[in-house]
Amino acid sequence: AFNLRNRHFLKELDFTPQEFCHLVDLAAQLKAAKYAGTEQPRLRGKNIALIFEKTSTRTRCAFEVAAHDQGASTTYLDPAGSQIGHKESIKDSARVLGRMFDGIEYRGHGQEIVEELAAHAGVPVWNGLTDEWHPTQMLADVLTIREHSAKPLTEVALAYLGDARSNMGNSLLVTGALLGMDIRIVAPKELWPAEAVRKAAQGLAEVSGARITLTEEVAAGVAGADFLYTDVWVSMGEPKEVWAERIELLKPYQISMETVRATGNPGVRFLHCLPAFHDLGTEVGRQMFEATGMTELEVTDEVFESAHSVVFDQAENRLHTIKAVLVATLGS
Ligand code: CP
Ligand code: NVA
Repeated sequence: AFNLRNRHFLKELDFTPQEFCHLVDLAAQLKAAKYAGTEQPRLRGKNIALIFEKTSTRTRCAFEVAAHDQGASTTYLDPAGSQIGHKESIKDSARVLGRMFDGIEYRGHGQEIVEELAAHAGVPVWNGLTDEWHPTQMLADVLTIREHSAKPLTEVALAYLGDARSNMGNSLLVTGALLGMDIRIVAPKELWPAEAVRKAAQGLAEVSGARITLTEEVAAGVAGADFLYTDVWVSMGEPKEVWAERIELLKPYQISMETVRATGNPGVRFLHCLPAFHDLGTEVGRQMFEATGMTELEVTDEVFESAHSVVFDQAENRLHTIKAVLVATLGS
């Protein structure tokens, strides 16, 4: 009933709720097949380009392993190693790569870049994260929510705390609205998604029955939540100069055991797209600590390492869901 062959995957708004859920269903099937050792390669002979203008662990590895599992081959183009966008326009790059590859993943800055690539490539283009949207992450998040909740999605309450004027804030708000969820953005007003995104979500909610809340109040925002979600307070591509101000604004929105208790739900789950800043075990962590004196930012180590946390299930699901996108748009 669903034919997504040759479709782009640029943002959540490109999909109907049925198409979106179809991709999540397909991912669940592919995951079960991989576990059972019965996976059938449906991408034999396909060549896939992976353009990364920003760094990545999960997204890149998910595309590479998914392609390999399905019999396709990949070419990785790193931020410095190609002509794209530096010596050659996006339009020309799209037309060149479209002659060689069957599909193109792009991670980078402005959404208009991935849209331009899609307009000229002649093959499916998938958004591996832009400043505005992170659509493949949403598929993994919805699969993880389904695995960790007995309720139908339309009864699930998810509260996102932190920087919501970002790819993750935008994507979660719109995805929750698309799928009819109880979706809450808990953040200072200046870090809410832009008005155009809020309006788009409102429009979707009128159709789906989603309940949308935008609030600055943590206690009210998290009460009764099934899932607490956060992301880094400063995203890739943002200058270090914003750290101090961002941290000051977002301190009250850190997810701690107190936040967990404020949900009133002992079974509440914690989600994070990762990478996360929850200890001093990283280079950026130590830099942050030197600049701000904070040892934990968006989530405490206690919550991150607790039984509430399902972040590594979520990370694994990037593989199965990205595989579903490849199979649905390119597969035989
Ligand atoms: N969540 C996510 O996109 O991770 P990477 O930046 O490691 O790809
Ligand atoms: N908001 C983060 C997400 C990383 C997966 C960023 O853009 O850096």
